[in-house]
Amino acid sequence: MRAHFRLESAIRFLGLGFLILNHSPIVAARVVGGRNSETQTSGRQVIKLDSDWRFSHSFENPDGISYDQLKAYILPGANAFIADPSGHHHRPSPEPNITVQYADNGFDDSNWEIVRVPHDWAIKGPFYVGSNVPVGGGMGRLPVQGVGWYRRKIAIEPADIDKEIYLDIDGAMSYAIVWLNGKLLGGWPYGYNSFRLDLTPHLIRGKDNQLAIRLDNPTKSSRWYPGGGLYRNVWLTKVDKTHVGQSGTYITTEDVSSSSATLNLAVSVENKANIKRDIYISTDVFQLNPETGKRGSKVASFPRASVSLPPGQSVDSSSSTTARNPQLWGVWTSQKPNMYVAITKLHTSASNHVIDTYETRLGIRTFDPSPEGLLVNGERVRIQGVNQHHDLGALGAAFNVRAAERQLEILRDLGVNAVRTSHNPPAPELLDLLDRKGFLVMDEIFDSWEIQKNPNDFHLIFPEWHEADLRSFIRRDRNHPSIYSWSVGNEVGEQYTGANGTAVARRLVEIAHETDPTRPVTASLNYAKPNMTFPTAFDAISLNYQGEGIRDTPPYSHLSGIKTSPLYSAFHSAFPDKLIEGSETASALSSRGTYIFPVTSEISAPINDTSGGNSTSLQVSAYELYSADYGASADKTFVGQDPYSFVAGEFVWTGFDYLGEPTPYDSARSSYSGIVDLAGFPKDRYYLYQARWRPDLRTAHILPHWTWPGRAGEVTPVHVFTSADEAELFLNGESQGRLVREQYSYRFRWDEVVYAPGELRVVTYKNGEVWAKATVETVGEAAGLRLAADQSLIRADGEDLAYVTVEVVDSKGRVVPQASDTITFDVSGAGELVATDNGNPADFTVFPSKQRKAYNGLALAIVRAKAGERGPIIIRASAAKLEIARIVIKTS
Ligand code: GAL
Repeated sequence: MRAHFRLESAIRFLGLGFLILNHSPIVAARVVGGRNSETQTSGRQVIKLDSDWRFSHSFENPDGISYDQLKAYILPGANAFIADPSGHHHRPSPEPNITVQYADNGFDDSNWEIVRVPHDWAIKGPFYVGSNVPVGGGMGRLPVQGVGWYRRKIAIEPADIDKEIYLDIDGAMSYAIVWLNGKLLGGWPYGYNSFRLDLTPHLIRGKDNQLAIRLDNPTKSSRWYPGGGLYRNVWLTKVDKTHVGQSGTYITTEDVSSSSATLNLAVSVENKANIKRDIYISTDVFQLNPETGKRGSKVASFPRASVSLPPGQSVDSSSSTTARNPQLWGVWTSQKPNMYVAITKLHTSASNHVIDTYETRLGIRTFDPSPEGLLVNGERVRIQGVNQHHDLGALGAAFNVRAAERQLEILRDLGVNAVRTSHNPPAPELLDLLDRKGFLVMDEIFDSWEIQKNPNDFHLIFPEWHEADLRSFIRRDRNHPSIYSWSVGNEVGEQYTGANGTAVARRLVEIAHETDPTRPVTASLNYAKPNMTFPTAFDAISLNYQGEGIRDTPPYSHLSGIKTSPLYSAFHSAFPDKLIEGSETASALSSRGTYIFPVTSEISAPINDTSGGNSTSLQVSAYELYSADYGASADKTFVGQDPYSFVAGEFVWTGFDYLGEPTPYDSARSSYSGIVDLAGFPKDRYYLYQARWRPDLRTAHILPHWTWPGRAGEVTPVHVFTSADEAELFLNGESQGRLVREQYSYRFRWDEVVYAPGELRVVTYKNGEVWAKATVETVGEAAGLRLAADQSLIRADGEDLAYVTVEVVDSKGRVVPQASDTITFDVSGAGELVATDNGNPADFTVFPSKQRKAYNGLALAIVRAKAGERGPIIIRASAAKLEIARIVIKTS
């Protein structure tokens, strides 16, 4: 198996034959280090189309058009990603006989809203509350449905006239259809994928090229919040007629050691000119500082390749070189994410003139997906992963680099080293961040195939689009060193359909292998068993919940639904050559800072109104013992993994809470499964995972808080999460007992503690020495507010953000753990308030609101610097009867 990937890699590399190669590094170039809205290298200009969009949304269909009606004109856009020419689509003639007034150059859009892209039309709300609403809990209770139109002018300078000009859209939710100057160009239905359209044939000189994009978001199309709109970046790419194609480089590495590595490069060059072009291709590889984007010294050059391009044709060229003493890309904490950048130039043969320059960021490393775990550069690295949906909490689906980076910073502090992009292609910039921070990535594309999970989900377009979506996704992402595995599906219905389902799986795996032979391909199994054919289709075994067992312990035995005993071992025996990982573990649920009594004595239990949950307040207890019916607490998942050293690791469901899917309370707005809440505040579970994943960190965390007016004399269990092996708890100085960690036990618990106000204190020990201590105290009445920002200086680029946390504190400055005061934010100076939140899954105050109730003592304001404005941003928080707080953020 191990040999399989290397060998395949070499063999397939030589046979690139039909592939039109692709990549995404341009995106990397845009983001890392500069976050520029424009990059220009000789021959190539990439412009971010972020401002000056006009937008209109309607819940009804305002134009009478549908994707089905126009799909014959859209499907040809898939051809570049369909390997067999006999499967190509042909644009019908004549053009469609319809009038589309919103696509017309003459249409007056002056009273449409002016928006900046990335833009999510639904995130401002309001929330749909109650039952019988158009969008229920599953999709986040926000108005995602309907038709959205975006219009924008594009200027074509005289110097652009001989260029090829593309529109690159990194994600449009969903069923995008694009017109330029009234001409239907094409589109892309799957809202999570990136796509390119060639604007050139219909551009006119001057400022008045009218771009018009129609998006159509059906209800009942998703199991989580999809967002709506042009929610990722949109780019204009201007290149010479002869240029490196879309995602047009592919770099793989072989024979990697500390003294040398072989680099293989494939470049796809397109000639859109109507004459033959003779060019040569040069590619130099440089060290790269991934944080600043600065290039270091040259480490290798590929041999120059001469290419003759007939008019209108593409040609692929491959070559290899050796890098001496490579600095390997690796996973934090034990390794460093060193990176390189390959600069490919196309030169005219006649005059040596550079007509295109193209950047590819890469890392040199080895992944060995072995049955004993994942080896990275020969070192066994345990996957300490989380699943992440694409929304950014109060910002919705609208991608923002800083918001994503903050999530990763919080996850790193927790000890996370891997992310599964559940269950769809991520923003390209997220992959750049993951590369440069040294995370592993399971890059996933589909949640459903031919069999639906929802009436309007991907299954509707699977037959016509799966190949194009899968191939374009892998071509876009395959140069990212952080991606160690592709996932082609999550819990698909085809697990249940025997040979038919297996055939679909095999076909997807085949496409993935053709497009990138260097990585294993998997799909997550929540049902398929070791003796079925379905798992045989995949290179690695990824289990959702089946690893630790589903409804297999007494607290879950009364529940209906499939019961599965823990299966890591059975899968390992059935597939002794394959890597085994938990692609979804836990689905433990909790509301940050909410504790519900009595507390179960089990290590894992389902939720109901008598245990762990409150269906009226829509809260789940943060004792971190409760899970979805089919899930498990963190403790139970650890019990499931730890006897088996071969388990490569896990991806917890989930790192952050996300919008939608608020199991177990459909009437809420956001999930309960995050280790971190929707606002980015750690739940107690954070410290449970941190103690496990960062064993050398001196952690000791006590729960619950100790301010319980009315509970005096009542049993109030105290639990401690720590990386120590012994712990002694004191209540008001009196020992409650010193406990020693037992095998497969992950928390210290004193379940008989009787509440008395005062001080709880824990002293922990490791190997007999004091390790870490923690204290919680009964606090006084709320007296004031305290502000803290994650960044004290932000860039005045209209994108960078400061996340400002508000704590409600008593007169001694201690956080009041159940405070729910209504806080009003006032932002003045060079910035603006974008959104507020508090992490409460049942808070229906709209996200842009400047008033937000504290939830268990905390609230959050997200502040953006206005583009180009100088000076400080002043943020003021006030609440009735509380001392006001103020913080100043600088801008640069
Ligand atoms: C899984 C599923 C996830 C999410 C999760 C919630 O079965 O794959 O997408 O729905 O359950 O617990």
